[in-house]
Amino acid sequence: MSRPVQARRLEGVDKNIWVEFVKLAATYSTVNLGQGFPDFPPPDFLKEEFTRAFSGEKHMLHQYTRAFGHPPLVKILAQLFGKLLGRDLDPMTNVMVTVGAYQALFCCFQAFVDEGDEVIIIEPFFDCYEPMVKMAGGTPVFIPLRPVNGKLMSSADWKLDPAELASKFSERTKAIVLNSPNNPLGKVFSREELELIADLCVKHDALCISDEVYEWLVYDGKEHIRIASLRGMWDRTVSIGSAGKTFSVTGWKVGWTVGPNRLLQHIRTVHQNSVYHCATAAQVRQLPFERYGKPDSYFVQLPKEMQQKRDQLVQSLVAVGMKPIVPEGTYFLVADISEFKSDVPDVPNSDEPYDSRFAKWMVKNKGLAAIPLSAFYCGPHKNNYNSFIRFCFAKEEATLKAADDILQKWKLEKTTP
Ligand SMILES: Cc1ncc(COP(=O)(O)O)c(C=O)c1O
Repeated sequence: MSRPVQARRLEGVDKNIWVEFVKLAATYSTVNLGQGFPDFPPPDFLKEEFTRAFSGEKHMLHQYTRAFGHPPLVKILAQLFGKLLGRDLDPMTNVMVTVGAYQALFCCFQAFVDEGDEVIIIEPFFDCYEPMVKMAGGTPVFIPLRPVNGKLMSSADWKLDPAELASKFSERTKAIVLNSPNNPLGKVFSREELELIADLCVKHDALCISDEVYEWLVYDGKEHIRIASLRGMWDRTVSIGSAGKTFSVTGWKVGWTVGPNRLLQHIRTVHQNSVYHCATAAQVRQLPFERYGKPDSYFVQLPKEMQQKRDQLVQSLVAVGMKPIVPEGTYFLVADISEFKSDVPDVPNSDEPYDSRFAKWMVKNKGLAAIPLSAFYCGPHKNNYNSFIRFCFAKEEATLKAADDILQKWKLEKTTP
């Protein structure tokens, strides 16, 4: 019995905050603004397409399809991203459908990262990047976004230090992970910031794994710029998207990768030797990309509606004294909880970051679920910004109102002696 059961690659990656926080939300929350999923129905056109797929004559949709993506879907994705990136894309070699963006990320790290390779990750980051890099044998190298001049009002105030970023690149750097719009801050990287990253990638012959799952959720007239469209970047970038995030169907788990065949051929190898293909019926020709660019199209309506929800939550938080960092994109909002600290006393020398204890206390005592910002930092950096929590505002009017009621009542209790 002396032989270890656990493979070495699992060491240190067995904890996952979602398991704990999803369970806490399920047990205690009356209002769940924690995990990132909409609680409203997906658009009608999507439900109709899905129902047609199941109820119609096309019984072959219940069988295997092409491993790297159902042909009608990869064709439509190639057309759309061809237009957006200004180049002809081959649906068979420049696009691959995955089981959500999550599997796309996993395939990238497995396909490109070897023992000894370094992968640069910008903090705060979607938490799975770190364990995925480690499971591939790589070493994550972290670079923080820092609030400039101590300002915290907008996600645009969080910036990379150009010299610090440059110092992270070396001959060991295999790739950088870019996530714009960024989860959790909602930061939409500017052209200048993306050019800085692109120049460093070109200079050091590094790849860019560009997680763009919130590409359509950009507010206040901001533009989402695809790093693959910048000079020298197409050949070294894999762009990742998600139908789940785009069409409010996170449970379908449909995502995609777009990039040059020289990169995608290796992603296909990982995919064909792991999941092989994504559920056929979930890949029905569901995406109304033909209407992209039209003023009444889903892609214009979606951010409009989501921006209203963002503004509603901002108002609720401001009214009670939780200071929001207004996001330029995504459906997340990070808020400063300093004003509420007196309700949840600090425990000196605790191993657990303060915001994590705060979020647990809040769901148990107030019924409101959110995620601590420290969950989006690597172990040694978890206390760097530990008085913030992340809310998801992709929620029905009634849910946002219920959250507002909780916050107002809480504020009242605090101010009434
Ligand atoms: C930044 C980011 N990337 C990827 C994913 C995973 O997307 P999917 O649900 O398509 O697997 C998420 C989900 O929350 C995310 O926030």
